[in-house]
Amino acid sequence: MAKKISAIGVLTSGGDAPGMNAAIRAVTRKAIANGVKVKGIKKGYQGLLNEEIIDLEAKNVSDTIQRGGTILGTARCAEFRTEEGQKKGADICKKFGIDGLVVIGGDGSYRGALDLAKHGINVVGVPGTIDLDIACTEYTIGFDTAVNTAMEAIDKVRDTSSSHERCSIIEVMGRNAGYIALWCGVANGAEDILLPERYDYDEQKIINNIINNRKRGKTHHIIINAEGIGHSTSMARRIEAATGIETRATILGYMQRGGSPTCKDRFYASIMGAYAADILCAGKTNRVVGYQHGEFTDFDINEALKMQKDIPEYQYEISRILSL
Ligand code: ADP
Ligand code: F6P
Repeated sequence: MAKKISAIGVLTSGGDAPGMNAAIRAVTRKAIANGVKVKGIKKGYQGLLNEEIIDLEAKNVSDTIQRGGTILGTARCAEFRTEEGQKKGADICKKFGIDGLVVIGGDGSYRGALDLAKHGINVVGVPGTIDLDIACTEYTIGFDTAVNTAMEAIDKVRDTSSSHERCSIIEVMGRNAGYIALWCGVANGAEDILLPERYDYDEQKIINNIINNRKRGKTHHIIINAEGIGHSTSMARRIEAATGIETRATILGYMQRGGSPTCKDRFYASIMGAYAADILCAGKTNRVVGYQHGEFTDFDINEALKMQKDIPEYQYEISRILSL
């Protein structure tokens, strides 16, 4: 018979994402409702190895659902990528009486969770990343807030770009994933959208597009550039030299990861966090929570990590047609 779960831990790991607090709150309160104690682990796997572990009561997560960032803190931890680090992490969980762990983060954090599972710790992952790049789920916590933050900023750049009849390259986050770029490209009516998954590095095509649009009377030219593509400032210099049109680069950067989460992020994070607590308290392990076809569900973590995700071709095609 599976060991009765008396305490679970929760940590946030990798890049922070708005809505992580709502997930921590939901894990905490649902586990407590299930009669299980909760321990908060600060600063991801680094905090685990440093034994930065606190008791979480329902009141400790009050007044957090509306806050950006993560109240537990997050980190990237090189030591945890080693076998010794993973064993040490599992031993610390056991020492603190942590029978199971909810890991809120991206793919990398899931890999770390899997390593802990190999050392006997029950783990459940919750998708927390603004990049939307976790294959087993149609939704990741933080994406909605990030794209809305970026969209509002891009609208503002577009105002001044039109006034000055400039070309603007706006770099959004997404080192390996173009979802923020695609969504903003469509939502902001960009003329060009450069995605890591699709960009062919043919700058001449962009230059021709700018010149043709100018001839057709467009006063601005917005290029949304995903972070993974390259250096926006030098691209702006090359485009200005080739077109004779003033070109400016704006890098939105970390503002996209901050801010109060949208209703959607708070809601999805709350349901996903509660779901994770429920399956962990029920003694399940090696699972990750996802949202697929209108339902909250869970997958085997190994299977989830093997799944592939790509920009939907139809959405990409439409983004190009609408930018004409
Ligand atoms: P994300 O979870 O957002 O994808 P990272 O890829 O940076 O972010 O992963 C967060 C942390 O998870 C890393 O700093 C490391 O401690 C741990 N991690 C990532 N990949 C592995 C791995 N293959 N094995 C063990 N731990 C890992
Ligand atoms: O959170 C995801 C992400 O924002 C990526 O888009 C980006 O490449 C990365 O994190 C950068 O994060 P950091 O500089 O904190 O490593």
